[in-house]
Amino acid sequence: MPTDKNRTVYLKDYQPTDFIIETVDLVFDLGETMTTVGSEIRMRRRPGADPSAPLVFDGDGLALSGLALDGKPLLPERYDSDADTLTVRDLPEDGAFTLTVKTRINPTANSQLLGLYRTNGIYSTQCEAEGFRRITYFYDRPDVLAVYTVTIIADEKTCPLLLSNGNMVEEQTLDDGRHMARWHDPFPKPSYLFALVAGDLAMIEDRFTTMSGRDVTLRVYVEHGKAERAGYAMDALKRAMKWDEERFGREYDLDIFMIVAVSDFNMGAMENKGLNIFNDRLILADPETATDDDYARIEAVVAHEYFHNWTGNRITCRDWFQLSLKEGLTVYREHEFSADQRSRPVVRVDEVKFLRAHQFPEDGGPLAHPVRPTEYVEIDNFYTTTVYEKGSEVSRMIATLLGPDGFRQGLDLFFERHDGGAVTIEDYLKCFEEATGHDLTHFALWYHQAGTPVISVASAYDEDKRELTLTLGQTTTPTPGEKVKKPLHIPLRVGLIGPNGDNMEPSAITGGEHRKDVLELTEDEQTFVFEGIGARPAISVNRDFSAPVKIRFDQSREDRLRIAGAETDLVARWDTINALALETLVKAAGDVKAGRSVTIDGELGDVLIATAEDDALEPAFRALALTLPSELDIGRAIVDNVDPDAIHTARSAVFAAIAQAGGDSFARLTTAMENPRTFSPDAESAGRRALTNAALALAVAGEGDPARANRAYGHADNMTDMLAAMRILAHQFAGSAEAEDALSDFRRRFAGEPLVLDKWFSTLATVPGAQTLERVAALMGDDAFDETNPNRVRALIGAFASSNPTGFNRDDGAGYNFFADFILTSDKRNATLTARLMTAMRSFEALEPTRQALARRQIERIAAHDDLSRNLRDIVDRMLK
Ligand code: PHE
Ligand code: ZN
Repeated sequence: MPTDKNRTVYLKDYQPTDFIIETVDLVFDLGETMTTVGSEIRMRRRPGADPSAPLVFDGDGLALSGLALDGKPLLPERYDSDADTLTVRDLPEDGAFTLTVKTRINPTANSQLLGLYRTNGIYSTQCEAEGFRRITYFYDRPDVLAVYTVTIIADEKTCPLLLSNGNMVEEQTLDDGRHMARWHDPFPKPSYLFALVAGDLAMIEDRFTTMSGRDVTLRVYVEHGKAERAGYAMDALKRAMKWDEERFGREYDLDIFMIVAVSDFNMGAMENKGLNIFNDRLILADPETATDDDYARIEAVVAHEYFHNWTGNRITCRDWFQLSLKEGLTVYREHEFSADQRSRPVVRVDEVKFLRAHQFPEDGGPLAHPVRPTEYVEIDNFYTTTVYEKGSEVSRMIATLLGPDGFRQGLDLFFERHDGGAVTIEDYLKCFEEATGHDLTHFALWYHQAGTPVISVASAYDEDKRELTLTLGQTTTPTPGEKVKKPLHIPLRVGLIGPNGDNMEPSAITGGEHRKDVLELTEDEQTFVFEGIGARPAISVNRDFSAPVKIRFDQSREDRLRIAGAETDLVARWDTINALALETLVKAAGDVKAGRSVTIDGELGDVLIATAEDDALEPAFRALALTLPSELDIGRAIVDNVDPDAIHTARSAVFAAIAQAGGDSFARLTTAMENPRTFSPDAESAGRRALTNAALALAVAGEGDPARANRAYGHADNMTDMLAAMRILAHQFAGSAEAEDALSDFRRRFAGEPLVLDKWFSTLATVPGAQTLERVAALMGDDAFDETNPNRVRALIGAFASSNPTGFNRDDGAGYNFFADFILTSDKRNATLTARLMTAMRSFEALEPTRQALARRQIERIAAHDDLSRNLRDIVDRMLK
């Protein structure tokens, strides 16, 4: 690991390199424990650069084994090299030269899964963000774009497949059972998009004809025996290619597009040019092993990585501070794709839930940072929900402010102007301004200011004047390093719902800028007047979640019930139903904490039951309405002095009361949804399964008997239903014979399926209660657990720490202690994974004092070690600041 652990990188220090790289010729001679990498780099001095400046390349843990300039070995006095840098001095006066660099690396010993690594007999690479420097010395930064030619030499038996970016240009059999393949990528690219895969894999192939009639070969590579499970990913890829042509006019540019699924991968997937590499859980799917959620994720991520070909690859980031330029925009494109493929409001509700569960807490805690940060210690730690999901919301708001056509015009200009470039967020914004004439100067603050704005809403209705007055205020609470917050430019979509449930259209809106029903907030406080309103309406704010903000609106119960029952914007309707439930749950948790008995108002049950039974609504939406906020959601709504045990007791009581009240409905709904006999992963079928399973959880709770869930488990003919039934048994009937039987049946049935066993590990890790810690500790000894595999670690340890509030936050602190022990050993093995796991504790200051102190002690114990990775050091230091 690098030695300069506490270096901070600042945006203001950005400088282009002194040299430009034109071409790179890489030769990999692959050996399991010794791979040699030869790199021939054609360079020239940047016009205007200091002619005496040396060439300084990045490295990370490298050993130099050869160095030549224009073919001649370099004398030792001309260069310095250590593990992390290579410096070459006295370069030719004309500034043009070829540097040849040789390194030796050990892919089998690479447990960080960054750079070139070999697991399960497969060689693969991960270079984003700074992994290429673990392969060879280079300008490992996104603004250095070069044309790559890659030669791979390996044993033909164990590595029949040799892949890299671009098109294959040559293949040859060599002596000693070895062979070679050469790939050429005509598109200049930064090093983080380089990829290499070698090994023995199965493959499925298809074709796609682009809108201009070019024929593209599509391949998905997976482990042998799993080719049938790659079909859905291939189908999603073709739909994504078509959609990007139709929606954004973007066409694929190489003759071949390849996806490789690997089982050891730190993140979800990677958009390497022409050779995407995926975590196999985001490729492999069939009805017996994948849930509906898995199918939806696969579709979304396959599309996301494909969309990067334009937003990320053809146009890349000038530096890593601009990460959201590619990630935020690509997530937005992915979200729009999912909305077009599925139910738009249901997809949007899922996005809102995700944002609130992950991004809002990040933005309100010690790790808060702007969408475009200005400094970092370790860029790996900035692949965050703020850069991704909030970044996506910012692009969505641009689309809301400019309208779909304006957004498209701006994006068209962006592609035209910056194709082949490495650019900034300012460059991106300028395209929208120039294409539409809108001034986005104020709006740009969304990129630079951290924190979630809180919008306060007050209303007054004047019957005589037929006017509704809305007073809107905005504040953002301070975040680390940013005490004073400015008002943002916020598009807020507002609906007015009349007494009979109809939408009311104002004759005019005054008091500020607005675009149809979208109010543009720009100041601390503003008053808008809606004219021509004949009766007092119920006000629906932030329809479609037009802005990523929190709303404080002391609205009458009556108005909220009207919205819950009649709002035509289903996102806002769900939000109101959810808020009603959350309010009841928060109050119940307060009752438990104060030793009072929990009382539940009947209206909530009525709303949930009525929504669940409403055949006019799509099943997926009804399922969303029927799913009570989680214990974590309740804790976040309580904000501080959080007691996970009180929340658990309260939620169980509310759940049981609703289950009792709607017993007949829920029982009926468990069998009411007809699904075709052959499984289909489409969104409608998935919605029916979701409603069935949400009803099942309530039905058995009402019956106080696991029998119905037990039967459902026995009859399940797909993973969605099977897992849902098993989770209900394991979580609602923990310790029962039925629960244990289902769990051991599942374990036995899927013994050879690591990805399915991840679901089993997670189910067990999230069983509420103090006793789960012992079970999790014991499961680390299970044959299927493998601490070197990131998916396994996340399924067991990650799920326990981030999704089991009562088990992890045991009041004796044993959960924190166990976790800290794991973190300390895991950090040595895989720093990226470990630092991400650690963020599970980022909200510890919201806990009640006893737990908070115990949690802090363990974070401090970690921080006291002086040999932490830079990744983990950065996270714990910021958490303790
Ligand atoms: N760039 C990848 C994506 O979002 C994510 C990633 C980052 C993967 C860093 C690996 C390492 O599509
Ligand atoms: Zn991405």
